[in-house]
Amino acid sequence: MHAQVSTTLKPITKITPGTVWKDTNGEVIEAHGGGIMQQGNIYYWYGENHAKGEGNKTGISCYSSKDLLNWHNEGVVLPKEALPVAFRDSGACERPKVIYNDRTKKYVMWMHLVARGHLEADAGIAVADQPAGPFKYLYKTRPIRYNYGYRGGSARTYVGDPEEETKGNTFRDMTLFKDSDNKAYVIYASEDNATMYISLLNADYEAIATPAVLNKTWVRALPGAFREAPAVFKADGWYYMFTSGTTGWKPNPAKVYRAKTMLGKWEDMGNPCAGDEQQTSFRSQPTCVIPAPGRSAGNFIYMGDRWVGEALAQSTYVWLPFSVPADGNIRLQFYKEWSF
Ligand code: GAL
Repeated sequence: MHAQVSTTLKPITKITPGTVWKDTNGEVIEAHGGGIMQQGNIYYWYGENHAKGEGNKTGISCYSSKDLLNWHNEGVVLPKEALPVAFRDSGACERPKVIYNDRTKKYVMWMHLVARGHLEADAGIAVADQPAGPFKYLYKTRPIRYNYGYRGGSARTYVGDPEEETKGNTFRDMTLFKDSDNKAYVIYASEDNATMYISLLNADYEAIATPAVLNKTWVRALPGAFREAPAVFKADGWYYMFTSGTTGWKPNPAKVYRAKTMLGKWEDMGNPCAGDEQQTSFRSQPTCVIPAPGRSAGNFIYMGDRWVGEALAQSTYVWLPFSVPADGNIRLQFYKEWSF
């Protein structure tokens, strides 16, 4: 059977950012706003499946690969039916990320659940015993409740609105980061996108660490910066975070931040993109950064989405290699094609 696949489909040997990327069955890969988890020598790529159009009409896909190039479709590992009705079809389930908990031996997925415009903006949590699922949906939450001193304007009020106060602060674009000491963090755009929150997770990764104490278990990183699409990684003792601006499906200049500790002070390192498409981040929005495979230690892969807002399934993937220089000033360049 494998022989048949290799005679009909040529293995992929290069990354060609922004072009149609097909899986080992010859079908277009549907894993947008995705994240990659490595388990042993296998990579798992989770993402939004937009094959049936706008909204969460399918659920979360998973693909597996040993080389980050040729991806086997593991199917829909969290079907939309697993989620509360509001987040199916017209609602959405975005930016899923999965980390493995060594203690519970479970794969823990966090995602952004969205409905009724962005009136519902919650975290969803699901778990699985195997990396390719099936994932079991546990619950939704807005993990942090914090009075940030709403100042008025177009954003919805939080302070003084009893319903919003019990619900907690909004939870939108997100990522997870598992550190080498097994501590894990959720990083998400809150305060109606004005401020990035970072919170330590509890021991099983299925909730944030409680009691939530500002500057101890969580931080208001990038207050008022209006950044989203966070992607966090660690290099040379620093934590780095790629982010985008908040212009919906339209691309904008990326920005990198770095900090000495996840709950420390994040420093603005500016726009890492170089060249003609610097202002649009090569027409992409960050979603994840992973270490490059093999011998290229210190090298990383930027994963972004080139969204086609009117036809989300036509969105492509922009993956680019980069390294982190000693001064931390990352330079991200576009390559029409590249290999490891
Ligand atoms: C972007 C966000 C995407 C999606 C989109 C919807 O700002 O990064 O994940 O939510 O808005 O308009």
